[in-house]
Amino acid sequence: MVKICCIGAGYVGGPTMAVIALKCPSIEVAVVDISKSRIAAWNSDQLPIYEPGLDNVVKQCRGKNLFFSTDVEKHVFEADIVFVSVNTPTKTRGLGAGKAADLTYWESAARMIADVSKSDKIVVEKSTVPVKTAEAIEKILTHNAKGINFQILSNPEFLAEGTAIQDLFNPDRVLIGGRETPGGQKAIQTLKEVYAHWVPEERILTTNLWSAELSKLAANAFLAQRISSVNAMSALCEATGANVKQVSFAVGTDTRIGPKFLNASVGFGGSCFQKDILNLVYICECNGLPEVAEYWKQVIKINDYQKSRFVNRVVSSMFNTVANKKIAILGFAFKKDTGDTRETPAIDVCKGLLGDKARLSIYDPQVTEDQIQRDLWMNKFDWDHPIHLQPTSPTTEKKVNVVWDAYEATKDADGVCILTEWDEFKNLDYQKIYDNMRKPAFVFDGRNIVDMDKLREIGFIVYSIGKPLDPWLKDMPAVA
Ligand code: NAI
Repeated sequence: MVKICCIGAGYVGGPTMAVIALKCPSIEVAVVDISKSRIAAWNSDQLPIYEPGLDNVVKQCRGKNLFFSTDVEKHVFEADIVFVSVNTPTKTRGLGAGKAADLTYWESAARMIADVSKSDKIVVEKSTVPVKTAEAIEKILTHNAKGINFQILSNPEFLAEGTAIQDLFNPDRVLIGGRETPGGQKAIQTLKEVYAHWVPEERILTTNLWSAELSKLAANAFLAQRISSVNAMSALCEATGANVKQVSFAVGTDTRIGPKFLNASVGFGGSCFQKDILNLVYICECNGLPEVAEYWKQVIKINDYQKSRFVNRVVSSMFNTVANKKIAILGFAFKKDTGDTRETPAIDVCKGLLGDKARLSIYDPQVTEDQIQRDLWMNKFDWDHPIHLQPTSPTTEKKVNVVWDAYEATKDADGVCILTEWDEFKNLDYQKIYDNMRKPAFVFDGRNIVDMDKLREIGFIVYSIGKPLDPWLKDMPAVA
């Protein structure tokens, strides 16, 4: 029986391995992690991450051919294929701080593989890593190899949180990069056979190592660029009276462009886009390509601009001050159908409003109070380190209240900010919300999900990103 071990039981390692176990009953899959609490959660009824359909997949194979364990060394020792899906945060200190990927976790995983291995292994990069990481990993492994043959493959993951299971069941493509040597090609073939259990062969792309590594960074940069492009347009729409929904629909009907990923919003978030672009920028700079680096940097600058533009709109609409005003925050996750808050735009928006002394009442159907409090007091980039290395949240902070109901959050509020596009926010009883708010009552829709006309009829002053402005808002321009 082929044995797979995956180091890192996170948003990628957990769902990916669960799907491999489900689709390949003849393969034994062990997912290992240094975090005891995470592994305990994977072995319980309350999985550590929320992802539609994941529960069902895990239940079907856990204890049969899918195991979650903290015994990292034992499972690596036994495995034929070792996936490495550990976090690859942005460096916070030293050379390349704020841009380069921090490969501390990756390197320690690679050293451990070298230490415990007694048989040949295929080591698969699942984490998103800088181009040429495989070369560094190869060096660590081969210098400690004791005659063992390690083959390194790059197999970046393209799943999107919120639709991870669907994406894994039916991927647009699976990408496998390897060395162009007979050993490398054989390893590619072995991994290809795993995916071929359920992925049509024409969707399994094979490349050299560097193309596979770079493709992942490039794909995320292109996706984020589309969002920044439409968000840049949203600012122009507001200034001119155009409607960004109409503009993006008209643009997206061009088959060369296509309609996906053209929704204007308060900004992109998630653990990958910003980190991967910063990483790309750093690689460009290191390779003497400052113009290319500058081009991609702009994608992040527009994203930051969009978040601060939103905060400025809120503050300027409310007579240029939100001090002591209650603002309801609906949605904290970086998008719907996930509880993930890493790099969520809600963090920057909330911090911006707190900076202006607002009182916040936050509701998200999937994010816990502890997570929200921690996010709001954490330094930039700290979020991507294991939990025991993160600062704990202060319990005395009274400016932020986390509640478990949208009506509770909005009661007696002066304004409502919609920051995640959860379906339930589309169908709230906005009349009831209006009746229980202070007047004038404002809605700032950072996801363009509410029916503006209906809300205006009720009496709200409504701001929706990239849509024609209420006369009230026009009279109070938000100057950055
Ligand atoms: P995560 O932070 O949820 O999970 C990483 C896990 O690795 C943590 O549980 C941590 O405790 C564990 N870990 C770290 N060092 C370890 C070690 N030496 N031994 C054992 N366990 C160790 O991260 P996530 O989101 O799963 O991302 C993993 C990688 O996949 C990153 O490189 C990310 O960029 C990439 N990726 C993430 C996607 C996403 O949607 N989250 C999508 C595609 C790629």
